[in-house]
Amino acid sequence: MKKYITTPIYYVNDVPHIGHAYTTIIADSAARHFRLRGYDTFFLTGTDEHGQKIEEAAKKRGKSPKKYADEISAKFKKLWDEFEISYDKFIRTTDENHIKGVQKAFEIMYNKGDIYKGTYEGHYCISCESFFPESQLIDNEFCPDCGKPTTIVKEESYFFRLSKYQDKLLELYKNEEKFVLPKSKKNEVIRFVEGGLQDLSITRTSFSWGVPLPKSIDDPKHVMYVWLDALLNYVTALGYGSDEALMHYWPADYHLVGKDILRFHAVYWPAFLMSLDLPMPKHIATHGWWTRNGEKMSKSKGNVVDPKTVADAYGLENFRYFLLREVPFGQDGDFSQKALIDRINNDLGNDLGNLLNRIIGMSGKYFDFFIDSKDVQKFHQKELDAVEEIIAKLDPLVEDMKWHKFLEELWQILTIANKAIDTYTPWAKMKEGKEDEAMALIALVANILAKTALLLHPVMPKTTQKIASALGFEIDRDSFTKFIAQKELLASFTIKKIPPLFPKIEEPLMQEKKPNKEQKEQQTQNLISIDEFFKTSIKIGTITEAEEVPKSKKLLKLQVDLGEDRPRQIIAGIKEYYSPEDLLGKQVCVVANLKPAKLMGYLSEGMILAAKDKNGLSLVSPLEPKAPGTPVK
Ligand code: ME8
Ligand code: MG
Repeated sequence: MKKYITTPIYYVNDVPHIGHAYTTIIADSAARHFRLRGYDTFFLTGTDEHGQKIEEAAKKRGKSPKKYADEISAKFKKLWDEFEISYDKFIRTTDENHIKGVQKAFEIMYNKGDIYKGTYEGHYCISCESFFPESQLIDNEFCPDCGKPTTIVKEESYFFRLSKYQDKLLELYKNEEKFVLPKSKKNEVIRFVEGGLQDLSITRTSFSWGVPLPKSIDDPKHVMYVWLDALLNYVTALGYGSDEALMHYWPADYHLVGKDILRFHAVYWPAFLMSLDLPMPKHIATHGWWTRNGEKMSKSKGNVVDPKTVADAYGLENFRYFLLREVPFGQDGDFSQKALIDRINNDLGNDLGNLLNRIIGMSGKYFDFFIDSKDVQKFHQKELDAVEEIIAKLDPLVEDMKWHKFLEELWQILTIANKAIDTYTPWAKMKEGKEDEAMALIALVANILAKTALLLHPVMPKTTQKIASALGFEIDRDSFTKFIAQKELLASFTIKKIPPLFPKIEEPLMQEKKPNKEQKEQQTQNLISIDEFFKTSIKIGTITEAEEVPKSKKLLKLQVDLGEDRPRQIIAGIKEYYSPEDLLGKQVCVVANLKPAKLMGYLSEGMILAAKDKNGLSLVSPLEPKAPGTPVK
């Protein structure tokens, strides 16, 4: 039996941050989990190196795209090696075999009639490397995913007949209940596909940093669209189109992705595979975003969390535990040192570490570190049954990528152990001369700790090996099979003293990153980039109706024509300065892309700009009349 697990291949336009580490650590934990259970596991990660975004990032630094990609790709690889990520292959889309495989796939799709030549005109977001139909743009111009301005691109292009696969895709989602994990995310995908699929432009002529078309098509102006190139990595890594040596691992069991790229993996990728007559992946496992104090991480804000810094300060494996335990898979989560410290001190320190220390202490004090399990069943069958009942629930949780639940449930068996000590008080048993009962209790807890170490091993490989060595055994396939799969107990323990695994953390161990000089200047001068300014859409509007809001001293209710199919209703706090009749026909500047809000029970769909000083308030108006809807720039 095999398992094939992948991470996204990361763009080389940016260094790795906590989000990349999150996906990779989940995938790594899954790979280790399946290996320990005897699956022939293949774990793939790598870097995505083509496309306009990379070409531009390289140019900015005065480097060739390849040289630039080499540098950043090496940073990803180095980090994963430092993090002891157990990948079996690190693919780069600039690898020769990958390029060969992509060309082969293109050729097959082309010969089948799934690719045709046409002209593309559309709105392109370079940052997302994605086209958007006009209907999806914010304010006719801005990318609905990242908010940056899109550019209009008109060029000759090859198209993939995505439309042809609409029904087959819907059938796939219907038949494969867990195609997208968590299941709740599947509806999004279904809605998108039901909305109608347009054929996908899959080549570009406007830049050259991409995979050329196959020789048989002979059209050197074109390079392939980066997402076609990138998605195919999941099969070219197995040798598709070159030596095919590893193709038996296909289909993937888990494509781990962030929610930002769900559509590419749950819509485009299966359609490409259908065209290639390859089997469908089993699960697109989609996690949420990590934010920082509630804000999205970004380099310009200087709030990006460097995963290496966190791991160095708090311990790599504690960090791994935190990432998997803190946030339900699929949901967004906020990174804070406080949350991390709480997890380390409470879950790891109190629940797990102290339990081990108690066993080391009591076994030493009462039994000279030797514990025999012979009476565990006699005195503690009830606890053993409860433990096995919990263990039976665990694997399906990992199969659904519900790591937070897996860990939460696993911790229940530690609760059973901690409670057993408090209930059976071995120190009292010793006083009463019931040494066999005291020994049985300590053996029960030692066995629970041993099972915990085996089950937790994929998340905390070294820490659990240390726990095992304190209990006098080793974690490997054999011990896993015996003590988890076959539910056996360790016959006896020769316990070893080890230093505490999770010393209490009293205060944050990382300096909150101070903004660098440039960021500080930006902050003090309150400067924003042009992109940030253009996120605000300001338009000229003509006031067509105005009336008072009943019972309000400050508010007027306006209807403002922005050149759209109906006027917008805007509730403005200007009643003290203007009477409704003064305003009719006046032109104003309106912030047009504000989230609608309710004021005194009325919906307000924008904001009117005004200037206020000690002499009062005036609305801001264009010097000459302008057509309603004219953008203010
Ligand atoms: O999208 N929180 O690459 P990319 C959680 N090359 N995860 C995050 C994150 C955050 N704040 N930021 C990034 C690409 N990620 C393409 C993929 S695959 C064929 C091509 C993680 O460098 C998450 O896994 O932008 C997300 O999907 C991925 O990084 C995007 O990495
Ligand atoms: Mg991205």
